[in-house]
Order: sequence, then C-alpha cells, then structure tokens
Amino acid sequence: MQLQVSQGDIAQSKADAVIVNLFEGVTDPAGGTGAVDKALGGLISDELKNGKRFKGKLGETLVLPTYGKIPPRYVIVVGLGKAEDMKSLQLRRAAAASVRACMSLKIKSAASLLHGAGIGGYHVKDAARLLSEGALLGAYQFTLRKGKKAEEENGEAGADSGKAELETLTIVEHSADKVAEIEAGLRWGRVIAENVNLARTWVNDSPNNVTPTFLKKQAELIQGLSCKVLDFEQIRKLGMGAFELVAQGSEQPPFLIHLAYKPKGTPTKKIALVGKGITFDSGGLSLKTAAGMETMKMDMAGAAAVIVAMRAIAELKDLDIEVHGFVPTCENMPSGRSSKPGDIVTAMNGKTIEVNNTDAEGRLILCEALTYAQKETNPDEVLDLATLTGACIVALGKAAAGIMGTSDDLLDRVRKSGEAAGEKLWPLPLYDEYKQALKSDVADLINSGAKGEAGSSAGGMFLKEFIDKDRAWAHLDIAGPAWMTSDTPEVPKGASGFGVRTLLYYLYNLG
Ligand code: BES
Ligand code: ZN
Ligand code: ZN
Repeated sequence: MQLQVSQGDIAQSKADAVIVNLFEGVTDPAGGTGAVDKALGGLISDELKNGKRFKGKLGETLVLPTYGKIPPRYVIVVGLGKAEDMKSLQLRRAAAASVRACMSLKIKSAASLLHGAGIGGYHVKDAARLLSEGALLGAYQFTLRKGKKAEEENGEAGADSGKAELETLTIVEHSADKVAEIEAGLRWGRVIAENVNLARTWVNDSPNNVTPTFLKKQAELIQGLSCKVLDFEQIRKLGMGAFELVAQGSEQPPFLIHLAYKPKGTPTKKIALVGKGITFDSGGLSLKTAAGMETMKMDMAGAAAVIVAMRAIAELKDLDIEVHGFVPTCENMPSGRSSKPGDIVTAMNGKTIEVNNTDAEGRLILCEALTYAQKETNPDEVLDLATLTGACIVALGKAAAGIMGTSDDLLDRVRKSGEAAGEKLWPLPLYDEYKQALKSDVADLINSGAKGEAGSSAGGMFLKEFIDKDRAWAHLDIAGPAWMTSDTPEVPKGASGFGVRTLLYYLYNLG
C-alpha cells in the first residue's frame, strides 16, 4: 500500500472512498468530518441522529454510499472512541479499522483525514506516524503460501505487508505547511509497520522454510548493519555447552547471529537485544503433545522481533545509540543425538546445568547468548525477548507479555514504551524464593523446577544467573501475545510481531 499526503479538500478527492472520523457519542460532526457531511447534504449527521448503526466506538466503521454528491463512491466514518481516552492505541486502531473497511469494499484507493491531529496533544507528525502504522498493520494478510508451491524459495527479505488490496491511501490536509511533517510521520510509521509485518510473515511461515539457516540468511541480507554469524563449531569452541546440547538433536545446523548498528557520531549508549530463535520446538525427548506442538513454529518470535527491529534501525538511520542484536537459533528435536533428561552440561560462564526437561530449551540457548552478548559488547542495558514459558500464558493470557529484570528504571521505561507502542507488558517478580526452583542435586542449576509453580519467574530466575552483577537487564516473556487466536483491527490472528514496536519505541523514545 502506498501512503501519501496531498493538500486540498478531502470531499473533492478522486479516491474511491473518503475516510472521516468521529468521537463516540458525537452527533453533530465538526472539523473535516463536518465539512464532508456538509458536502454530502447532511448524510452523515442524518445517520447519526436517526440511525442506530453507529455510535463512534473505537474501531467501529460506518460505510455510506455517496450517490454522486461527491466524487468518491463511499464515505467511511471510523469511530475514535471517547475523546478523553484518546491515546496512540486509538489512532492506530482507527486507521487499521478504516483500512479493513476499504479492503472489504474491495476498493483500490482511499483518502483519509489525519485522525487525532491536534487532539489529545498529538502532534501532526505523531498522528501521521500512528495512522501509517495502523493502516499498514491493519492491511496485513499472510498470503505467502496461498496458491504457491510450499517449497518455493523466499528470496530476499521483502518488506511486504501481505497482499493488501488497498493500493493507495492519501492523507488530505488543508494547510500546506503541515505536509512535510505529515510525510515524515508517514515514513516512520511505514518503516515500523513494514518491519512488524515482516516479523509476522517469518513467524507465520512454515518451519520447513523458516529454519536457523533462513534466519541467518535474512540477517545477512540487511543493509547498513554489520553481521557476524557463529556456526556450530564456533559455538562448541566457545564452550556454549547448553546451546550445543539443544542444537545437537536436529539435522538443521544452529547459528548465533550477531547484528550490530553503529551510529555516525559517538554513541550515547550501548544496548544489546537478544531473541530466542527456536525455529521449531517439539520439546525434544521431553516431547510435547501433538496439540502442544502445533504452533511451535512460533518459538522464534523473539528472534524475529530482534532481527526486524535491527532492520528498522538500519532503515531509519537517525539513532544515536549503538545497538547489538543477538539471536541464538536452532531446532529442538528428538533424535538419537538429542539431549536426554539427566544430561549435565557446562555453560560458557562455567556453570553446570542439569537438564531434567528438554522442553525448557529456550533458557539453555538464551543463557549462552546472554553471556556472549555481555562479554562481547559490555552494554549499558540488555533486553531479551523469548516465547519462554507456557506459564506466562496461564498468568497473563494473550493480553500481555511478562516483564522481569534487574533494574526498575529499565523495566519502567520498557513498559512505558510498550504502552505507547500498543503492546502491554506486565511485571512478574524475581523473588529470591524462586531460586529454590533452580536447585539441582547434581549440578549448579537445573533447567526446570517444580511444575505449576511460578514457571515464568523460574525461567527469568534461571536467566538471571547469567546476568553480570549490576547489569541492567529486562526479560520479556512474549509466549502469550506473540501468537494471537483472535483478531483486532491492527493485530490479526496468528503471528502478531509482538515486541518489535516496543523495542523501537524504547530505542527511539517515541510517545
Ligand atoms: N516454547 C515453549 C513455551 C511456549 C509454550 C511458548 C506455549 C508458547 C506457547 C518453551 O520452550 C517450553 O516448552 N517451556 C516449558 C518450560 C517447562 C518445561 C519448565 C513450558 O512452558 O511448559
Ligand atoms: Zn520447549
Ligand atoms: Zn521453546
């Protein structure tokens, strides 16, 4: 979908539809919506006063044919919800809902007002960014494997937004002096959303295509970053016994991918991002059930989020922070070579781990990547994203990811970034009591503690054993929201791309 801005009168647009907006409960539209209503001879206000269909609730849409009163065939009124609730979520969702309405009308072009500009303190550039984010997120469909041979190669990392049927969305603005800022906002939103959509596609795509080698290739294709990849031999040589143990059961070679972005001037800060890249989690010999395995291609959602966030940074360029992205990636498979419950390994930091459950594999690859990331880059802050525990879904459902870590200040900033990004993060504790869950009779640590007791915190606690003293670290357990089972206008069923926006909002300090 092409997003553009043009100066003029929206009612005179040549597009197939015009998109206007309304706060909940308003029956007398003003501003741009009022002007379109007037041009339509009161068609909208008549429906609002006499009809029962539309209340202006957030994301609600009303489609009215214009019967030739203005050039566009349809007017789409989108609800912004209550004026006092106005937040970034509202603007993103309204844009997504209006684009979905265009898609169900099967139209090719639409002209839209810039929702929320000047309301709730939103600057036009931010409003444009949110509209563009919402429109492109809303247009996403996973169509890559429809009507194609499953084995067809993917080629270069395309920033496609699925097969959006709406080809052009034009923001129509009255005053010429706002056009440049709107354009800048649209570009930001486009880079953010296209990368979220790319992560969605990787997570939605089949695990026979999205292998560790696929992720490595995609990382290497990114322009503007340096990329170093460690292979199995190097992983072994570095003493990453825990990573090796998970990887050894699969026919697919594992990798530790390291992407780096360096700003032009002296960096103001250094940040390391780590993403869990299990491209398929069968559970290993501690085999999952058939139902439990069905969606386990999504176990690389953390990796996808980190790689595409790095890709977005490279595209946006103007970040003055040095950012490193680390992705340990392999499959977790049962085989004659795979790890057995009871195996003991030594991690790169010298700690020994008893693996009593081969399905708690995420922490085994992440702990090594966390050690490596800190050793290689000595970052001011480390964030990891992982679909780590089913327990996190039990605790928080699909609504939020769990967040835990070592620095309240960091956790606070990441949570605020998540909120602005439309991604909820809820704090879970790392109490010392949970250390009990890490106790092994035969090694320094055990990889899976008592079942049914604070599983997400136990996972976090395990990772904390690999975090240097005084290091600011945040662990995001994205097991729930990484994979959705119901739709919202901006997040379809399946892969959500969760985490990409939180990372970008956090790095760029976006509101
Ligand atoms: N990848 C899973 C966690 C998961 C489960 C993510 C469901 C998304 C949906 C992880 O590797 C796992 O299997 N964790 C175990 C840990 C347990 C053995 C300590 C779990 O959650 O059961
Ligand atoms: Zn597992
Ligand atoms: Zn897993």
